[in-house]
Amino acid sequence: MNMSGSGAPPWKVAWITGASTGIGRELAMLLARRVETVAISARSTDKLEELASTDPRLHPVPLDVTDAQAVAECIGAIERDAGPIDLAVLNAGTWTLLDRADIDLAAMRAGIEVNYMGVVNALAALVPRMRERGSGHIVIVASVAGYRGLPRSAAYGPTKAALINLAETLKSELAPLGITVSLVNPGFIDTPMTRENPFPMPGLMPAPAAARALLDGLEKRQYEIIFPRGFVRAVKLLRILPNRVFFWYVSRFVMGRSKR
Ligand SMILES: NC(=O)c1ccc[n+]([C@@H]2O[C@H](COP(=O)([O-])OP(=O)(O)OC[C@H]3O[C@@H](n4cnc5c(N)ncnc54)[C@H](OP(=O)(O)O)[C@@H]3O)[C@@H](O)[C@H]2O)c1
Repeated sequence: MNMSGSGAPPWKVAWITGASTGIGRELAMLLARRVETVAISARSTDKLEELASTDPRLHPVPLDVTDAQAVAECIGAIERDAGPIDLAVLNAGTWTLLDRADIDLAAMRAGIEVNYMGVVNALAALVPRMRERGSGHIVIVASVAGYRGLPRSAAYGPTKAALINLAETLKSELAPLGITVSLVNPGFIDTPMTRENPFPMPGLMPAPAAARALLDGLEKRQYEIIFPRGFVRAVKLLRILPNRVFFWYVSRFVMGRSKR
């Protein structure tokens, strides 16, 4: 097992969802230097093909992660063509800003379907296969937004909180079966997802640096991988604040902050 970033890579076949842009795209390019086959999934076939044209180790497998059957077929096809997936990075995600208690059913349902059920759909097909082999590394990309309920995040934060909870359950349950689970909680990363945000984003990190930090954490087989570290640690502190102090902090420092 490679623990240092040098020597033989720990995985032969990797699969990344949400690989057409942002963190997933950058991670795919990094992994292609170290892993024999990197299957890249998202809905945008054109972007996947353009990315795959940069490296013969990248293989586009277009997919909508909300379609459970398509996800199962995609995983079956990758394993048939390339061999067992030993690293699965479940990274596809969507973010819609909801402000001022705007309960937008479509946005909230999309958040659950893509961010949460998109991961569950992959787990349903991956876990039995990895369990049978007694090996595999599953990576769930959540967010600092899942640590506590924050303004404007009603369609997003709850889905990431659910993923953080799910990853904890899976870590304990899958370890005895030889399956590693990692949880990724990024802070603000400069990707298409955040480009239109109308509020200040402290510690905004370029996507290539985020992907590098993610890969470093995976190679060290860390459970929770965070970047940028200073900002994420600060947000994580909110988890231990008493409610009274937390709500005071949010009303004083987070509510109503806007760049516009
Ligand atoms: N950027 C940040 O500040 C930040 C912070 C914390 C966590 N995260 C998380 O990091 C992950 C990557 O986000 P990013 O910042 O790199 O954003 P991004 O550039 O918008 O990437 C999102 C990816 O998900 C794919 N996707 C969306 N819906 C999909 C669906 N139904 N089926 C398959 N793929 C789908 C998109 O591709 P298509 O549109 O082509 O399908 C795209 O490749 C997400 O889970 C996000 O929540 C991001």
